[in-house]
Amino acid sequence: TGEVDDQVDKAQILVASNRGPVSFSVDDDGSLRFRRGGGGLVSGLSSVAGDADTLWVCAALSDADRKAVSESPEGRIDQAGFDLGGARVRMIDIPAATFANAYNSVANSTLWFVHHMLYDTPNKPLFDAGFRTEWDDYRAYNAAFAEALVTGAADGAKVAVQDYHLALVPRMMRGRRPDLRIAHFSHTPWAPPEYFRMLPADIGRELLEGMLGADHVGFLSRRWADAFLRCCETFLRADVNWDNRTVDCGGRIVRVGVHGLGADAEGLRARAAAEDVAERRAALREMVGDRRLILRVDRTELSKNIVRGLAAYRELLVKRPEWRERVTHLAFAYPSRGDVPEYRAYTESVRRLAEEINAEFGTDDWTPVVLEVNDDYARSLASYQIADVLLVNPIRDGMNLVAKEGPVLSQEGCALVLSTEAGAADDLGRDAILVNPYDVSETAEALHTALSMPDAERRERCTRLAEAAVALPPQRWFADQLRALV
Ligand code: G6P
Repeated sequence: TGEVDDQVDKAQILVASNRGPVSFSVDDDGSLRFRRGGGGLVSGLSSVAGDADTLWVCAALSDADRKAVSESPEGRIDQAGFDLGGARVRMIDIPAATFANAYNSVANSTLWFVHHMLYDTPNKPLFDAGFRTEWDDYRAYNAAFAEALVTGAADGAKVAVQDYHLALVPRMMRGRRPDLRIAHFSHTPWAPPEYFRMLPADIGRELLEGMLGADHVGFLSRRWADAFLRCCETFLRADVNWDNRTVDCGGRIVRVGVHGLGADAEGLRARAAAEDVAERRAALREMVGDRRLILRVDRTELSKNIVRGLAAYRELLVKRPEWRERVTHLAFAYPSRGDVPEYRAYTESVRRLAEEINAEFGTDDWTPVVLEVNDDYARSLASYQIADVLLVNPIRDGMNLVAKEGPVLSQEGCALVLSTEAGAADDLGRDAILVNPYDVSETAEALHTALSMPDAERRERCTRLAEAAVALPPQRWFADQLRALV
């Protein structure tokens, strides 16, 4: 699927992430068009992509992307200057089988599961010879990134490597380019040592040592940074200075930092002012009528805890029947990682439970749960504007930007029901209603409290939530990462 352009100019600032800021489609005239990609990382980084002299190296293609690329006359995926701004984007062409093992098996079915503590442990994980082969592909995939970065970087350039897909890249680069200053940033939680130790010992060490090849290792919350430092102590017997939050790697000092990420208020408000959002808003208002609206917006992602969220809504309708016919639960659960069997099964359980609730409580003029699975960014923004209650109840989440974006766009004020296990609870804990994500009854009661909140209080809280949500805009978050490299 395309050739790699090796004539890229050398860049002073490089960003590396599995998923890039764009996805592709083919226009009527057959030319390739780029659209903003999904997920927290892309939301965070897109707003900084416009800077000149930045090279963004990425690899992920969705099925739709592959199709679009193969249908386009250019038939190639490397390009420069797409419409997010001036940054150049370089897609690395990784063989499909290598990519599948690195992305689906190692990154998403193993590292993601470890950091979000998602395993059903009587059955998984299971590390056998097959896994070792997949691990080799994860290494090869990391090596392809390291190669692209080493070749694309100017003397003394700063490199910001993102997320669990690319844990080995910093160390792979350091040996070859000691002049570079390298940051690694995790958008996920980090597993505590008691959970991380499930990984084969040599692989666990390789991951930690890979990241410690960086000069600076960053996390979204103090909780995740502490877990990482504890893993370094436990599995590498590394010398950790807890006052300075540094790790001594044989005389080279690696700093571990906490950089929260907030919503991009300006970008969001500008996008939400567009006509297509107004149209969606009108349609949603029509559908909801004078009922209260409980909203959730997620990828269909195991860690997002959608099933327990629906169970809580069901319990609300049982325990607080006064809400029947007076509330609509709009659940946006957008497709994600469909190649991982657990995600397909999970998508099915979400659909089934939504249907059960509708069968149990629905009437001729009331559908209790409206489940939408087709990704529509404009509709998500419109729903933030009109929601009365926003439910964000992940099992574990690096940050969760939905919890921050909702209050920023809310027009009448929305109450936020938020899991204590999301990094966002660090910033929003004061004005959100915090819940234990496993406690369905507590979540049901929190929904009731949120629905019953007096309008004035809901508005005041929402204003404070929005203020806290934008305190660390993506531009500053990214600048902090680079500053930490000086
Ligand atoms: C999270 C991860 C990102 C990832 C995103 C979407 O936010 O931290 O690295 O890009 O999820 O997941 P996907 O597998 O579709 O890229």
